[in-house]
Amino acid sequence: MTSFSSPDNRERLHVKYLLDPNLVSELEDGKDVIWGLTQPQKSLAPRYFYDDRGSQLFEQICELPEYYPTRTEAWILQKYAPEIAQMTGICELVELGSGSSTKTRLLLDAYRQMGYSLHYVPIDVSGGILEASAKQLLADYPTLQVRGLVGTYELALKNLMPTPLPSRGICFLGSTLGNFNQQECDRFFSQVRTALQSGDYFLLGIDLQKPVEILEAAYNDAQGVTAEFNLNMLRHLNSRMKGNFDLSLFEHRAFYNSTEAQIEMHLICRRSHSVRLKGIDLTVQFKEGETILTEISRKFDLDQMQQYLAQQGLKMLQTWTDPKQWFGLILYQVP
Ligand code: AVI
Repeated sequence: MTSFSSPDNRERLHVKYLLDPNLVSELEDGKDVIWGLTQPQKSLAPRYFYDDRGSQLFEQICELPEYYPTRTEAWILQKYAPEIAQMTGICELVELGSGSSTKTRLLLDAYRQMGYSLHYVPIDVSGGILEASAKQLLADYPTLQVRGLVGTYELALKNLMPTPLPSRGICFLGSTLGNFNQQECDRFFSQVRTALQSGDYFLLGIDLQKPVEILEAAYNDAQGVTAEFNLNMLRHLNSRMKGNFDLSLFEHRAFYNSTEAQIEMHLICRRSHSVRLKGIDLTVQFKEGETILTEISRKFDLDQMQQYLAQQGLKMLQTWTDPKQWFGLILYQVP
């Protein structure tokens, strides 16, 4: 089902809801939870982190002293956004997982500085966050046109309207790509390639490999915010699926798996017990020491990423990093 919100009175904001969020729940909730909790290595999809509390906790994580990715990427964008704008020329900015659109402002500032028309297409599963940030952007950028899409990346990429500008640039920042396994990554890039035309751009932010102590500290912060973020997933499932997870019976654990070059976040069970999720008619047995894998966060190698994206039909134009080479921003073009 598709629904539309009406344009605001200034006609600069259009938001299209690609799926009724309640319908998404009915269609998808449960199936992946049942699958994930009945495999030998139990797992839950990272999307269950993000209820209102989870989104707030993630915003707090981004400010933590140990969590370097957000500020490092912002530093790179701050420094090189003018160069990016110069390289793409006038271009519609499409942002996958726009959230609060904080980093987008650095790009919009650079495009405004060049005197370019500002067209922004935020894409997010949360209509509330998308609309609130879009309204704030409209207030701060008086010539900006926003055409937001509320839905999954897959749906949004299929539903992009033709752009009135000479080209389009899809931005995927924050190393969210790292939360996809290889199969999800392959599927994602085939969707991105289908959405882009010759001459269009793709701007990718990725977290790079670095000493294990720095990586592990970023996911085991001293204030325990990441631990709370991880445990909150169970609270979210309790309320969404009428569950009875006892949070005191689980503990946060995050470590770097150097074979897979990824941080893994788990919830480890303190003692054997069973959990009932009445909403999806599921009872799960947990053994002491058993874990639920809640997230992978892959750490990339720039050369390997460049080779991979070349195979996906994207031509690398430029790479930017910070002085410690902790984070990479790469601009690609469709030949
Ligand atoms: C959203 N994503 C890129 C974050 C990451 O670093 O993988 C999620 C996160 N999990 C724990 N801290 C941050």
